[in-house]
Amino acid sequence: MVSSVFVVGNWKMNGSVLLAGDFSTELRRIQPELATEVQIALCVPDTLLVSFDLDKKIRIGAQNLSEFDAGAYTGEVSANLLTEQGCHLVIVGHSERRQLFSESSEQVAKKAAQALRNGLTPIVCIGETGEQREEGKTFAVIGEQLLAVQQELGEAGMASIWLAYEPVWAIGTGKTASPEQAQEVHAWLRDQLGSVGTELPILYGGSVKAGNAAELFQQRDIDGGLIGGASLDINEFEGICRAADTLIKRKG
Ligand code: PGA
Repeated sequence: MVSSVFVVGNWKMNGSVLLAGDFSTELRRIQPELATEVQIALCVPDTLLVSFDLDKKIRIGAQNLSEFDAGAYTGEVSANLLTEQGCHLVIVGHSERRQLFSESSEQVAKKAAQALRNGLTPIVCIGETGEQREEGKTFAVIGEQLLAVQQELGEAGMASIWLAYEPVWAIGTGKTASPEQAQEVHAWLRDQLGSVGTELPILYGGSVKAGNAAELFQQRDIDGGLIGGASLDINEFEGICRAADTLIKRKG
């Protein structure tokens, strides 16, 4: 059983040095009040990685990395350059990368492997589009995305990643998957993961807010959230962290 609840912000191409400062102040105030099992992280634009002043229990992450070590790859950022900036986590395979920047499942798997080789925890995102769900292809689509990563990393590597189920139709749309819809997919994923499944955090992403976090996080196989829009608003983000805290303290 995964005993923590993970609250991970994804700022995407948003934020500023000023906002990083405000978040640092507020998170320093909030975090000591929360159970240690509430694991907070913020995945931010690369230029903001060093703009935070946080307790070291809060992890800072990036949103993408190159699958290559170094070299003539103009505009890319290597795993090594990220770790040098104190980065601990990196999102790979976000649906915006897959759709807008044509990243294939094989490339996503290579990026996850590159992250692991360099001591970064990859948060591997998978998810179906609305059309694919309507056509009954949800499990085929996410199964293919997951398999590419499993083949590249093997069982040992899989034990060190975090997974995020992010239905594309729920991202930035305000249309959250119902707790039951999300739980169904998470349980299926846990099953596909075999023996590593019990220990691997599976986060849900797609319009998570302070108002719906509790009902999502209390599902058996949902270990927390990857939060886009609501992670840019400190009050919303605090509300999500507190929902996770209430849940942990209730379980006691
Ligand atoms: P959202 O984004 O919370 O704004 O829907 C989630 C994500 O893209 O990770």
